[in-house]
Parts: sequence; structure tokens; C-alpha cells
Amino acid sequence: MYYFIATYGCQMNVHESEKIAGVLEELGYCACTRAIDADIVVFNTCAIRESAETKILGNIGALKPIKAIKKDLIIVLCGCMTQQEGMSASIHKKFPFVDIIIGTHNLASLKDFIIQRQNEKKFITETLNSCDIAGRDNMKVTRTSGYNAWVNIMYGCNNFCSYCIVPYVRGREVSRPIDDIINEIKDLLKQGYCQITLLGQNVNSYGNDLGGLVNFAMLLRKIDEISGKFRIRFMTSHPKDLSSEVIDVIASSSKICHYIHLPVQSGSNKILELMNRKYTREKYLKTITEIKSKIPDVQFSSDIIVGFPTETEEDFNDTLRLIEEVKYEQLFVFMYSKRKGTIAEKMDGQVELAEKKRRISVLLEKQNQIATGISESYIGTILEVLVDDVSPKNDKILLGSTFAGKTISFYGDKRLVGKFIYVKIIKAKHTTLFGEIVEE
Ligand code: SAH
Ligand code: SF4
Ligand code: F3S
Repeated sequence: MYYFIATYGCQMNVHESEKIAGVLEELGYCACTRAIDADIVVFNTCAIRESAETKILGNIGALKPIKAIKKDLIIVLCGCMTQQEGMSASIHKKFPFVDIIIGTHNLASLKDFIIQRQNEKKFITETLNSCDIAGRDNMKVTRTSGYNAWVNIMYGCNNFCSYCIVPYVRGREVSRPIDDIINEIKDLLKQGYCQITLLGQNVNSYGNDLGGLVNFAMLLRKIDEISGKFRIRFMTSHPKDLSSEVIDVIASSSKICHYIHLPVQSGSNKILELMNRKYTREKYLKTITEIKSKIPDVQFSSDIIVGFPTETEEDFNDTLRLIEEVKYEQLFVFMYSKRKGTIAEKMDGQVELAEKKRRISVLLEKQNQIATGISESYIGTILEVLVDDVSPKNDKILLGSTFAGKTISFYGDKRLVGKFIYVKIIKAKHTTLFGEIVEE
């Protein structure tokens, strides 16, 4: 018996798919790479933009002919899209061949639902509004991300940025107990993982719901104290509450990577206020300056939304000026997408699609120049690299990452995957560096 999981959306979902794989393997299924070969297909969905939902609905539709031939195929939908009010009923109506639809809070019950469906051919759906955290944390995980291990430190989001659906589909912030996180990480290190990536919608508010006894800086310090050679990464950090304490811990650690994803969304104060981001352009830039002065080799990445309601050319130019000032190593740029139930859904001043597309291309062109400049500045340097993987295009080429998160490719033997080595940078193209091994 085979399973196939299609994962959409962010790293949170990537990790949840590893928990889903754990459940399926406990039930005796093995992984396969095509839906057509599977006995159970799971779509772990995302609702962040309309384009994500349209793609998922199209892919669910494509399962209909497979189900018509394979009557016993079990189709499961879960994740953020199915958590939306009324969504399960509307999908069931449109795609009656889907067997199980659950929301983001029902993962721990997935095993029972599948067993129930194996025994009785009846549609099953449940989208609760909160969950049993311990149940979710104790699920068996089948990790698929090489030497990197994802670790949830918290779930949900309290921020209600006016454009964003996440707080509605993931619920309020819940932090995991610090000892559980530390124990999980110690266990992963024993298993040989050498990069730990901490996950939360806003890792900076870790501990706010635990009675003020712990915070993100304390958690980072405790993880940093664990002995052994490994790297620590985290995402995502909301700029409104990235504290000096956290910056100091990163600066003093030899394990916490000098790479910070700090989504700014817009460079215009008017738009930031309408987005309910709770910081100004000036405050954001002050944080960037503090980080650069304490961590000189730091690299930043960011998310930007273009075409938020009422965004004028002037607002957009403020964003362009901001990216020139910060010099991000990488930018993820999105066109604003109206989401049902959010505050921005009702805002006037929607920006035309053609104009959003133009703004994206202007931004990306500028970003390309910036990223190329950053990459070229590394030529001639020797850096420590964690070998992540073999290139999918050529098995003699390895892919790795530097301590500041730069991607690098170089010739090498695949037995080096998962090892720390030294590489000399000889060439640069956009965000990727090319190098040669100087020390294994
Ligand atoms: N918690 C993270 C982001 C999660 S969503 C944070 O606060 O940074 C990832 C990104 O999707 C966001 O940073 C934002 O840039 C983008 N996004 C969210 N809602 C969107 C929408 N309605 N339209 C377009 N992009 C959106
Ligand atoms: Fe969405 Fe804002 Fe929460 Fe990020 S912080 S998940 S953008 S509401
Ligand atoms: Fe992630 Fe998409 Fe949900 S970005 S939190 S999977 S809406």
C-alpha cells in the first residue's frame, strides 16, 4: 500500500506533512512519488492567496478520473484551506469523491479517521477550532528534509495583519513547553541532524502565553548551550518585536545562523498602518541598523506585498527605496490577494492586476541587481559550508549553505552531504555562489 502527499504553503505545512507521513507509515503505507500509484492521497493545503486555492482545487479535480478507476483510493484534504468556514461543505459538494476533510486542529485524529474510512465508505469531516497540542506534538514524524530538522516552537498567530488569513485558520498563539522543545532537539542531534530550524508564525512572541517565565531569547540561549556542532535557524520573526536581547543572543552564538528573515511587507508608513503591522519604516530600519552593527556578516531576506489597497506609486517607491537601503539577500514578492473574512477584504482602493504585475517586475529587477552585488562581494573568500544535498541536475555537484544562509554549489563527493567543510568562492550568479572545496 502506497501514500502520496502533496504539500502546499509554508514550512509549517512542510513539517506537518512529515507528521502526516508518520501516521501513514504507522498504518503500513509506504511513500510513492505519483498520485496515480497511491492507495491514499493527502493534500495538505494552503489558503494564503487565491492563487494557492485555485491551484489546489484544480489538482483535486484531476483526481476524479483516478478515483473512477481505483474505487478504493482514499483522498484526504487537510490544512489551512479546509479550515475556513463553510469550505469543507463546499468542497464536498463540488468534489463528492473526496473521502476525508479535516482542518488544521485535527491532525492528531487523522489516524482514527483513516481507519474509520477503511472500514466504512462514508464521508468524514471535522474542522475543530482548537486542538490537543500534546496529541499533535507526540505524533511520529517521518522526516524528509535531509540534515535539517523542523521543530515547532509555537502554533497559531495573534497578530491579525489586515490582509492575512493565517490567524483565522491557525487559531491563537500557543507556545510549546521549553523542556519539550529542548528534549526534541537533543534527540534529533543524537539521530545525526545538524541543522535545527525553529518554526512559528512569529517566533519573537514565543512564551507570551506561558506566564512570562520564558521568552524567545531564553529559548535560543538554551538551545545554543546544547553541546555539539550544529546550526540553529528560525522563522518567522515579526519586526515589531524582535528585541535587542534576541539580537545579542544571535551575535554571541556560534550556532545561530547569521541569516534573518524579517518580512517588511511595505516601505510606506501609510500602507504599514493599514496592514496593521505595528511598526513604522523608521523603526524597522532602526532594527536593521542595530542588527548590522552587532552582526556585521548578517544577511536578510524579506516578504513584500505589492498592490495592497490604496498603494500609490509614491508608496511603492518608498518600498523600492527601502530595499535599496537594507540590501536583502533574497526577497519573496507577492501580489496582494483578497482573503475572505480579513479586515482588508472590505478596503476600498483595490489596485489593478496589471499594475501589481508591473510593480512586481520593477521590484524583482532591482532586487536582482542587489542580490548579484551581494553575491559578487563573496568572491575570493573562504567560508564554512554545510553540505545540504546533491544537485538534482548533476550528481557530481553538491549544494550547501553558508552560516549567513547563502546557497553555494561546488564539485564534490556525495558522502560529504551533512558535513561541514570549507569552500573558496570563485564565481557568483544572482543569489547563488559557486566554489571549490579547500578543506573537508
Ligand atoms: N508569519 C509570517 C508570514 C506568513 S505568510 C510573517 O508575519 O511574516 C507569508 C507571507 O505571505 C507574508 O509575509 C506575506 O508577505 C504574504 N501574504 C500573506 N497574506 C497575503 C495576501 N492576502 N496576499 C498576498 N500575500 C500575502
Ligand atoms: Fe499573517 Fe501577520 Fe500573523 Fe504573519 S504575523 S501570520 S502575516 S497575521
Ligand atoms: Fe502556511 Fe499557507 Fe497556512 S502559508 S500557515 S500553509 S495559509
